Amino acid sequence: MTQKLILDLDTGIDDALAISYALGSPEVDLIGIVGTYGNVLLQQGIRNDLAITDLLGHPEVKVYQGLPHALKKDSFEVQPVSAFIHGQNGIGETVIPDSDREPENESGIDFIIDAVKTYGKDVVYVPTGPQTNLAAAIRKAPEIIGQIGKVVLMGGALTVPGNVSAWAEANISQDPDAADEVFRSGIPATMVGLDVTLQTLLTRKETEQWRQLGNAAGRFLADMTDFYIKAYETTAPGLGGCGLHDPLAVGVAIDPTLVATLPINMQTDVEGATRGRTIGDPDKLNDPRKTMQVAVGVDAPRFLSEFMTRITNVARSAKAE
Ligand code: BDR
Ligand code: CA
Repeated sequence: MTQKLILDLDTGIDDALAISYALGSPEVDLIGIVGTYGNVLLQQGIRNDLAITDLLGHPEVKVYQGLPHALKKDSFEVQPVSAFIHGQNGIGETVIPDSDREPENESGIDFIIDAVKTYGKDVVYVPTGPQTNLAAAIRKAPEIIGQIGKVVLMGGALTVPGNVSAWAEANISQDPDAADEVFRSGIPATMVGLDVTLQTLLTRKETEQWRQLGNAAGRFLADMTDFYIKAYETTAPGLGGCGLHDPLAVGVAIDPTLVATLPINMQTDVEGATRGRTIGDPDKLNDPRKTMQVAVGVDAPRFLSEFMTRITNVARSAKAE
């Protein structure tokens, strides 16, 4: 049976590329997007999800509202660095029409639970922002831990430093408590972190191929991603492109052979100076059952080729003008 894909996004330039990758992947059926906060506020991310799926010719994709802030907080503000990297509007200040659709009435948390009850092991859940929604779904219906197919999350760093501090990666740092709950819950999860996502880089040479398609979708993808590449030239000079964080998680969800993984039970530090660090759980070091896999190697050329083929196909199939 075709895998039922759920994306959980803080859209976000690379989140937008993750949507595009998913829509270009016939192996999966994108049954819903759950909105979260992070690169942008929850409402802006949802606005982007609806507008992008319209622009790419997929208005059938349903968008659900997740939680607007971390489990232990009562509000969220976008960090200036997020606006610098993704633009104030999350999509590199590109201007695309608002959708005339609204998010679904059902909450994102209930949607996750209902989808797992309906499709069970066929569900693959890909969060590319904080882990808040998934942690909330597990709190509400812990039985989904044993019922879901798998989680493939973008976040964390095991063998390399973080990107918001020496320890913490951005998505995990938004809600370390939620990440720790998810990691220790025993849900089958693959962590696609900075260890591998900073090895998959895109340059203006590739984005130009989208611009040359000559339609609105191609221009949008090229202009948005060039904004991201430009930000990377400041935040990570010498890297030679932008990190394809979120689309790599979708790629791995569809084809796990893109990465080499280490089986390990993980935790997230929630106390002290290392809050937000993703690391092996010492209490479960000797547990023969490993519920998590951490991606530590990636076939970057193969992923890049898949990425360009799939996204270019989606952009080409969108409206001609
Ligand atoms: C992650 O943080 C966000 O800014 C990106 O969208 C990605 O999900 C990379 O650390
Ligand atoms: Ca993201």
